[in-house]
Amino acid sequence: MILRMNNKQFTNTKCLKKIYPAHLDRLKTEFDQILDDSQYQYAIIFSGAIKHSKMDDNPYPFRANPYFCRWLPLIQHPNCYLVYQSGKKPILIYFQEKDFWHKSVEFPSSYWVKYFKVIIVSSIKEVSPHLPSNNKECFFITDDLVDEKYTNGINNINPINVINILNYSRTTKTKYEIECLRAASKRAVSGHLIAKNKFKNGASEFDIHLSYCKATNHSENELPYKNIIAINENASILHYQHYMKNKTNNPSSFLIDAGACVNGYAADITRTYAFKNNEFQSLIDAMDKVQQEIINLIKIDITFIELHLNAHEKIAKLIQQFGLANGSIESLISNKITNTFFPHGLGHFLGLQVHDVGGFLENSQGKKIQKSKQHPNLRLNRKIEKNQIFTIEPGLYAIDLLINKAKIDGTSKMLNIEKIAWLKPYGGIRIEDNIRVLDEGVENLTRDAFAERY
Ligand code: GLY
Ligand code: MN
Ligand code: MN
Repeated sequence: MILRMNNKQFTNTKCLKKIYPAHLDRLKTEFDQILDDSQYQYAIIFSGAIKHSKMDDNPYPFRANPYFCRWLPLIQHPNCYLVYQSGKKPILIYFQEKDFWHKSVEFPSSYWVKYFKVIIVSSIKEVSPHLPSNNKECFFITDDLVDEKYTNGINNINPINVINILNYSRTTKTKYEIECLRAASKRAVSGHLIAKNKFKNGASEFDIHLSYCKATNHSENELPYKNIIAINENASILHYQHYMKNKTNNPSSFLIDAGACVNGYAADITRTYAFKNNEFQSLIDAMDKVQQEIINLIKIDITFIELHLNAHEKIAKLIQQFGLANGSIESLISNKITNTFFPHGLGHFLGLQVHDVGGFLENSQGKKIQKSKQHPNLRLNRKIEKNQIFTIEPGLYAIDLLINKAKIDGTSKMLNIEKIAWLKPYGGIRIEDNIRVLDEGVENLTRDAFAERY
């Protein structure tokens, strides 16, 4: 499907219109089964409520309930309800507040509207008559603890057996979801290209961040996660959260981990750049090769941890090759030297949440896969299945805290402190793509999006 994007929204409405009905059918079938197998007659899914800071009427940025956005692309719409009963047209209680302090949401009008019976309400008090009268027949899905005024007295909130089924199902994506994720990658790449350019011209972290927001047409609160815009040694901080406002005197490296959203679906992309064509650039090139080799290993029925362990082997080779530590591949892994340089997981599911659900679910009944003791930061250890979408994001960093820990663990003799001192001013490297599993091989949403722009 050729994506002709609307420049403002980065979505192709014509394309989504075609594939949305099949997506909705899958959700209905899933909920029919859930309701059939339970004592409930109705599923109520709440879009979420706006939260305010204490002692003030200042709202926190609104994040819609992902279980709601899976049905409807209403990401800026608090206080809406979806009411589903088997075999019936789903009801959308659409909250359009009449309020002179805020701008109300638009009247609903898009490709999805005709599949819902839409009821407009202008206050929470108006919701109750449109909800089923017998609360015992309902379960209520919300992403957060919400005030009773929103739950309308329904006590069956987020029943765990229902959540397990939904979470398990969310890990394989429909065509509609894949298209949204594809578009999100394209949107993020628009920002990444500008950001690289800005860095090469000596811009500050803050300046790069603002340019990224502008290019993706996202305000800061609309981003799927806080942009990581890290120049020089800041790149060693995995979730670096600040934006230095001043230009760096001596830029040498740039790590950008920044995403974008389309209909609530997220991209999560990282690139690392060297300011000059030097040894650090060679390390980036080597890591890029490692990342692509790992992606080439992806196939149905292997487990994600196999890929993660393979990444440790490949990173051990890089550590040897660049002289960051001494020892055999086996000893660099068994002595956790690879963990010192690469302390996070190789990847995670991606979808309506950046770290999407279900990474350790063995089945829809909620059986959990054990976490690895040696790799506690790995967020995904499932068997690989068709149409899963996950990130592949190997990294290598000079992190003081972990180097000091190696001293305590007695393995620091293996480290080459001089060579680590060389790496330190650059911080580190991460290269992260968003990958969809195919029958054979993968679709690389991120590299496809970059390739379209070169
Ligand atoms: N952006 C956070 C992560 O890569 O997991
Ligand atoms: Mn990630
Ligand atoms: Mn990331």
